[in-house]
Amino acid sequence: MNEEINAIIYKIFQNDPDKIIFSNPSGKSEVEFRKVVFNKISMKDSPAYQIEKYTQNQVYHENISPGLLSCTLSEYFDLPYRQVNVYCPSIQMEIKFNKKKEPHIIQRYVDCAFPHIKKTRDNREKDYILKEGTNIPVFVELGIFTTDLKIRNSMQDKFRQINRFAEFIDDCLKDYPRDDVNIIDFGCGKSYLTFVVYHYIKTVRGLHPHIVGLDLKTDVINKCNDLAARFGYEDISFKTGDINGFKSPFDRVDMVLTLHACDTATDYALYNAIRWNADIILSVPCCQHEVNGQISSDRLKALTKYGLVKERVSALITDSIRGCMMEYSGYRTDLMEFVEIEHSPKNILIRGRKRNVSAEKRQNALNEARNLCDEFNISQTLMKLLLKETDA
Ligand SMILES: C[S@@+](CC[C@H](N)C(=O)[O-])C[C@H]1O[C@@H](n2cnc3c(N)ncnc32)[C@H](O)[C@@H]1O
Repeated sequence: MNEEINAIIYKIFQNDPDKIIFSNPSGKSEVEFRKVVFNKISMKDSPAYQIEKYTQNQVYHENISPGLLSCTLSEYFDLPYRQVNVYCPSIQMEIKFNKKKEPHIIQRYVDCAFPHIKKTRDNREKDYILKEGTNIPVFVELGIFTTDLKIRNSMQDKFRQINRFAEFIDDCLKDYPRDDVNIIDFGCGKSYLTFVVYHYIKTVRGLHPHIVGLDLKTDVINKCNDLAARFGYEDISFKTGDINGFKSPFDRVDMVLTLHACDTATDYALYNAIRWNADIILSVPCCQHEVNGQISSDRLKALTKYGLVKERVSALITDSIRGCMMEYSGYRTDLMEFVEIEHSPKNILIRGRKRNVSAEKRQNALNEARNLCDEFNISQTLMKLLLKETDA
């Protein structure tokens, strides 16, 4: 092991890492694991590291004490992984190795810039609402769990997302005055979320969900209906169709969900929910093209001249306008972190609860949205749809 690697290991050790990921083994190498992740955990109140070793379709676990960290790290630095990412409370490092195994290091001092990420990560992993190992046959059928009820390796991120979604639903239902809950999941796709929400509300909460999932893809919807029939889920059904113009099958819609409905599909979903006076809206938007394609500003050119910044600013502006327009429509609205940014860059959840929002607040929200549109020379779908109906 060369001096440079020793210095890197020393630095990692000194900075009390939360997570270290070895990935991208070189093409010709025959390493046993395609990815190895060290996670700092607490065992009987003492710190330890859990090592997750990923093959193509399995994950193995091993726990080590912090005293063995340096030694174990040097074993993995000896292997031909081309990338190592290190997350410490105050520093993050990305180490890339070239063909000659020379490291190139990019480091970023976070200085607790994201303390909430650490806190929520620790809490969440302990407190998942839907726990690995619970016998939920539909989860196995959907490929979320393996047959021995472990989270499938490729589904770790999705499992985290739907668990997080279940947390938000749980929170909204705490003070909900009805047992029968009518829910529409727009852009349901393979319906991991839809089935999980159904299972959670019915089995864990003991309520009566009636759920409709909607998607454009007929083959996917047919499979979802087959699955619902196979498991005897009577109150869940799936329909093929476009969110834009969809007619609700319920007299009353309690909750509208979207998880990564593409681009303006999220706007049509929010618009429907608002028109139906849905009590609860939980929406995690996806890719954003509409504003990115129009945005310009002479005064704030610095925000639009770099492609990456422009893309992110466009997404943030879009979600801010959506939030304002929900407030304008009488929803108490929050934009919240959905999952940690390391698991999905699409990590904003828009939460709206239908409430008595004062006329003044509604007007202010509309003005705020308009100011953004004027500043950045944009028009935005949800705003257009809602304003078409009023003379505001
Ligand atoms: C990224 S996938 C997300 C699927 C699912 N919600 C999840 O998180 O696993 C987006 C889904 O939205 C659907 N979709 C996009 N636009 C739609 C529209 N206008 N109407 C209905 N479904 C739409 C797509 O067919 C796709 O299945």
